[in-house]
Amino acid sequence: MMDDEVFMSEHGHDLMESETGSSSAMPEEVLEQNALTSTLNSMIVYGKAAHHNLTAPRREALTKLSRMHRTLLEPFYSDYLLSIDRAIDVNSQFMTLVAQIGANNFEAPQERQEWQGATSIQVDHTKSTLKQLYRDWSMQGKSERDVAYRPVIEALNDLFEINKRSETHVLIPGAGLGRLAYDIAQEGYISQANEFSYHMLLTSDFVINHTQTKNQYQLFPFIHSFSHNTSAKNQLQAVQIPDICPSENAGLIRGAFSFTAGSFTDVYGPKDDDAGSGMKNMWNAIVTVFFIDTAHNLLDYIDTISYALCDASDGEGYWINYGPLLYHFEDDLSNRGDLKSDSNLSIELPLDKLVHVIETAGFVFLRLETKLKTTYASDPQAMGSWIYDCVFWVARKRKPGEVYESFVDRV
Ligand SMILES: C[S@@+](CC[C@H](N)C(=O)[O-])C[C@H]1O[C@@H](n2cnc3c(N)ncnc32)[C@H](O)[C@@H]1O
Repeated sequence: MMDDEVFMSEHGHDLMESETGSSSAMPEEVLEQNALTSTLNSMIVYGKAAHHNLTAPRREALTKLSRMHRTLLEPFYSDYLLSIDRAIDVNSQFMTLVAQIGANNFEAPQERQEWQGATSIQVDHTKSTLKQLYRDWSMQGKSERDVAYRPVIEALNDLFEINKRSETHVLIPGAGLGRLAYDIAQEGYISQANEFSYHMLLTSDFVINHTQTKNQYQLFPFIHSFSHNTSAKNQLQAVQIPDICPSENAGLIRGAFSFTAGSFTDVYGPKDDDAGSGMKNMWNAIVTVFFIDTAHNLLDYIDTISYALCDASDGEGYWINYGPLLYHFEDDLSNRGDLKSDSNLSIELPLDKLVHVIETAGFVFLRLETKLKTTYASDPQAMGSWIYDCVFWVARKRKPGEVYESFVDRV
């Protein structure tokens, strides 16, 4: 059964997206509300910003050209920009709807004057959210999902017998728009997604709880880049979401599905005062996809995974991981260099050292594969795209005294 209220917990969201300068002096609720309302605003102003940044300067550039060059480009170029404008409007209507529904569900202040303005970085997050909708919830994104999500689901199914799945708890931190967690529930598990980005929380809530039919909305996720396009048609390709409608399928879902809001380590990790989070030894499996490199300190993630996974005494606890090592805070550390606050911290390990640290932290590797070519929210028709050589592993929490073979040499 799908939980009625899929967004069930409010364990202090991290303020990943708040960029207010003097944030440390403000009470936490104010910071929290600012992070929510500035994200909502970034969805609402997306359309205006996109017209302003994408099509307006290109129209102006056209006026600067010689008449001969203009004749060569026209009427194609003006029609092209007009089509991009129309696609921006379609995206904008969708993101505005997500913001309107989200403002209500997430209890933003009624008075819009009380909302925090959006930064350009947040508007960029809105653009990436459109591409993530393609990745997670469109039929066109299936081939990308199959590369990263399929091996993870197959590994879970190899570990847990079909008749045990309804009592098997699987946690998916950094769940993005929630498709992997949803598919894991479809396989019959008790699946819980966790996220701390308001862009992800608001948009996944919309798709999961507020879409009514399959392919209800059309979006243009790839219009924001004028490079690597084989044709204007390629840049303007539309996708339909959702390819599977969670609310239509609610009665058919085999397992259970829920979503928590908040930072993974805060919600599921050990607490400083030793009180515990109530999540100790609770999860039979933790699945991380394109997630572990989002940590300021990866060792905190490893501690939390180890803490939250079942011990040998409660069954077995498995960690399944798929993704790259694109350490998200590497540039922050190099650029700012001052470590007055932990928000600049970045601990980066190469894969062989990481495997060693994970083994030392009490895991035994069962599988490890490298160089798995994978794209992320990437336009399959583009002339150029970023391809990651991902790592995939299945590791288990070690039993006391268990002798194990190290996988460091297999990297
Ligand atoms: C690269 S995305 C991957 C999303 C999804 N797993 C996928 O494969 O599409 C990483 C996600 O982790 C989330 N994230 C980063 N740090 C987090 C934390 N400490 N707690 C919860 N989520 C976090 C980000 O908001 C982002 O949505």
